[in-house]
Amino acid sequence: MKRVLVLTGGGDCPGLNAVIRAIVKRASKERDWEVVGSIESFNGILREPTEIRILDEKAVAGIHIQGGTIIETTNKGGPFAWPVKNTDGTWSAVDRSDEMIRKLQYLGIDAVISIGGDGSQHIAHKLFEKGLNIIGVPKTIDNDLMATDFTFGFQTAVQVATEAVDKLVTTATSHNRVLILEVMGRFTGWIALHAAIAGGAEVCLIPEIPYDVNKIVERLQKRYSRGKGHAIIVVAEGATPINGTVSAKKNEEVGYANLQLGGVSSTLALQLKEAGFEGDIRQTILGHLQRGGIPIAYDRILAAQYGVKAFEMVLAKRFGEMVAYRHPDIISVPLTEAVNRPNLVDATCNMVQTARGLGISFGD
Ligand code: F6P
Repeated sequence: MKRVLVLTGGGDCPGLNAVIRAIVKRASKERDWEVVGSIESFNGILREPTEIRILDEKAVAGIHIQGGTIIETTNKGGPFAWPVKNTDGTWSAVDRSDEMIRKLQYLGIDAVISIGGDGSQHIAHKLFEKGLNIIGVPKTIDNDLMATDFTFGFQTAVQVATEAVDKLVTTATSHNRVLILEVMGRFTGWIALHAAIAGGAEVCLIPEIPYDVNKIVERLQKRYSRGKGHAIIVVAEGATPINGTVSAKKNEEVGYANLQLGGVSSTLALQLKEAGFEGDIRQTILGHLQRGGIPIAYDRILAAQYGVKAFEMVLAKRFGEMVAYRHPDIISVPLTEAVNRPNLVDATCNMVQTARGLGISFGD
């Protein structure tokens, strides 16, 4: 019997379970393959005792509609930076990748499918360079991975953000207020841009187009020219004013290497007041609501396509590659293409032009 190990890494995202199910269903068509899952990304392999579970058709029945991941995930540590406590209470990061590859051999793992975002695909690429038979599946609500039209989970996050805009519109009009909605996306503005267009926002602020607060105030004052008004501002968590810095803090959790973004909506509210805007302003941070809950149909379908293709890439020995969506096809691309640089919003792309055509201001 051959064994493929599946793991989910990084922040969770709607559609993870649908990918796992699709891998298992496709693998069950082959007589000589078994699927196992590592609990909490690579941690399940590195821990003693090992935490892996058999993923058969019974284990994955009906999970495509569930949010989260049945094999858990983490965005801390990893095989190249395993946190170890020193005698003085501080922590060091230790490279356990060689040991992990040996353990995978010992466990009879013939191939690994890593479902994750940019961090996880970087790790996958480094492990491939060390000789591991690994394949990537692009996951993230941020849609910031190159080489694929969409990561799964993104469209569900856009749906959640759009529904939030819809709700904010009714309360903003009732109170003649400016309501700011802060959405996720790290250093990209994909969720903000899509939700601003779908929800009909007046202003959309994204990291790729730094904003001038005076321009936003001008726009708001036009909306309030007859004394009353309302406006929705969708702001991506990574947005910055021209020559400004991102709203973020260092997270002290052990093994957490990323900057923790958040708070730009409050900063913006203050900036608008300081720049002379006199109306009421309130802000909402949508946060992890964008990552939880059931995936919409689009993401379930994309996840199914990714899962089936990923297993077929294992059969075809397309290691060191990642499954990708290039409309209308599901293809295989080198992991290097996916992790070279982040997929940023091009300020001249059609989505930005469409938004501008609708009168949405980017504060520039
Ligand atoms: O990458 C997905 C994402 O949800 C980002 O949009 C966000 O900045 C980050 O993860 C939050 O991560 P955490 O799980 O540490 O809160």
